[in-house]
Amino acid sequence: MASEVNGVDLRVSIGSLKLKNPVMTASGTFGYAREFEPYVNLHRLGAVVVKGISLEPRFGNPPPRIVETSCGMLNAIGLENVGVERFISEKMETLRQVNVPVFVNILGDTLDEYREIASRLAGVEGIAGIEVNISCPNVKKGGVAFGTDPEMAAVVTKAVKENSTVPIMVKLSPNVTDITVIARAVEDAGADAVSLINTLIGLAIDHRSRKPALANVIGGLSGPAIKPVALRMVYQVAQAVSLPVIGVGGIETTEDVLEFMLAGATAVQIGTANFVNPRASEEAVEGLAHYVATERLGSIREMIGGLVLP
Ligand SMILES: Cc1cc2nc3c(=O)[nH]c(=O)nc-3n(C[C@H](O)[C@H](O)[C@H](O)COP(=O)(O)O)c2cc1C
Repeated sequence: MASEVNGVDLRVSIGSLKLKNPVMTASGTFGYAREFEPYVNLHRLGAVVVKGISLEPRFGNPPPRIVETSCGMLNAIGLENVGVERFISEKMETLRQVNVPVFVNILGDTLDEYREIASRLAGVEGIAGIEVNISCPNVKKGGVAFGTDPEMAAVVTKAVKENSTVPIMVKLSPNVTDITVIARAVEDAGADAVSLINTLIGLAIDHRSRKPALANVIGGLSGPAIKPVALRMVYQVAQAVSLPVIGVGGIETTEDVLEFMLAGATAVQIGTANFVNPRASEEAVEGLAHYVATERLGSIREMIGGLVLP
């Protein structure tokens, strides 16, 4: 693993996992990663997180399932994916050829499904970690209850942890009253890290047709519109747990990454920005290296939790 970009130390640790820099891609916004090879040197990223994988393939929701809103995007993809078996035989096969840590985002409608997916992924070569999606607002069964109930969040975390051979990162939902309660519950249940936030539940309406803009009616809001909410939650969770916190939500630029790190994030994920600028993740790595060099920091790790309070 290259440890430095132009002689600059950008390394961070997520539990036992060492990343060469803190820039990851967010699940569902970067396909299975290799789709981005024409634009991004994947090898330069800290890690990639692939699209959420379920036990069986899913076709997702009917269209329209993405709509642009002011400063953001509303989606109700419905977790379309190839299912765990095809993921292992087809997608991991090609992902192994890229020298970048791969996190597999997983989801289930039942506890057994989470357990089963985790055990099928256990020992598969090339998987650096698992991200457990307990927070997707689009699926009618499972998702919402797991991510909003501390006891269920803990049970899922424990089940995945017991059946995994790699570090697990639990992805938290912002659609709760107090996110720190869920964060503490998954920490106690054995999570190695938490990532936050998933999308905020929203609604877009076309006043001309008088219909919802999405066929699913409601969807998940992402992009710059949610950045202040994500920053606030990262800040609160970083105070509440001693796990590494991975910040997600509206990150587009190097400055955004620095803000999340100051709020307490050890690493970040870039999501919706990939649709606007497919090179956003690699540009953030370059920007961080430039920042560390010009500010003469010993390493990027000096930024983590460095917020100066009034
Ligand atoms: C089109 C789309 C698909 C997504 N699919 C997933 C998914 O499969 N699993 C998941 O945990 N999060 C999924 N997300 C949520 C993102 O990973 C991320 O948490 C969220 O969009 C906030 O970050 P952003 O504002 O940088 O996009 C998806 C988001 C979008 C926009």
